[in-house]
Amino acid sequence: MRAGLRRAGESGLSGHFNRWAATYDRSWMQRSFRRVHTAVLEILRQEGWEAGTVLDVGCGTGLLLEKLARVRPEARMIGVDPAERMVEVARGKYGNSPRFRFEVGSAEQLPLPDESVDLVLSTVSAHHWPDLDAGLREIARVLRPGGHVLIADIHLRGNFRIIAPILRILRGEQLHSADDFRRAFESASLGVVYQRPLRDTRGWVLGTAGVKPGRERIGGASAPPTTTCSRGS
Ligand SMILES: C[S@@+](CC[C@H](N)C(=O)[O-])C[C@H]1O[C@@H](n2cnc3c(N)ncnc32)[C@H](O)[C@@H]1O
Repeated sequence: MRAGLRRAGESGLSGHFNRWAATYDRSWMQRSFRRVHTAVLEILRQEGWEAGTVLDVGCGTGLLLEKLARVRPEARMIGVDPAERMVEVARGKYGNSPRFRFEVGSAEQLPLPDESVDLVLSTVSAHHWPDLDAGLREIARVLRPGGHVLIADIHLRGNFRIIAPILRILRGEQLHSADDFRRAFESASLGVVYQRPLRDTRGWVLGTAGVKPGRERIGGASAPPTTTCSRGS
């Protein structure tokens, strides 16, 4: 019941993440989150997507952007999260670097201008968004034509799907199927270029990537998909 109340309003959910912010980086769950970050960085390395300005939606304390900054020294990093304390912790760690910027905001209302970002990432966050379609529409709005998005989120497979409605009622979490992600991408006019479980996550985390149609880029960023799509919901 306590957790069920979290969804009563965004402040309730943010309250949970605000309380977690101070200890988030030391949480036992980082062991799993680290694997997700590593798999995402590996996909970016393989695909070679342009990363001039990168946005992390639901960035928490900025750990993914920190790792990405090390391998993409030319990129500028923007993190957005509705939990003010998460944003404060991220600013405390990286605020002195002109390459990093952290803003309070949600996937459904990104505090960024149209077509201002080359690459959008999001890890283990989308199941907290109250409206996946609205989040994808906002992501499509801020992406530059030819820009890419990669959403990595928890994914229940097979018989485990039975617990999705329970999690929705008790925790307000909306675990989406592979088809849900495909539909949300497509309804935001984002072409799906990649969908598969992430490496080393035992199939619990699904990566779905898309491209915003638009001008051809040097390096073929908006060229046809290079990676096989797999449905596997
Ligand atoms: C489990 S944490 C993951 C943080 C980070 N992406 C990482 O990989 O460490 C989930 C994050 O999603 C954020 N979140 C919750 N609702 C959101 C929304 N509507 N839009 C964007 N982010 C949201 C939370 O505040 C929290 O920081």
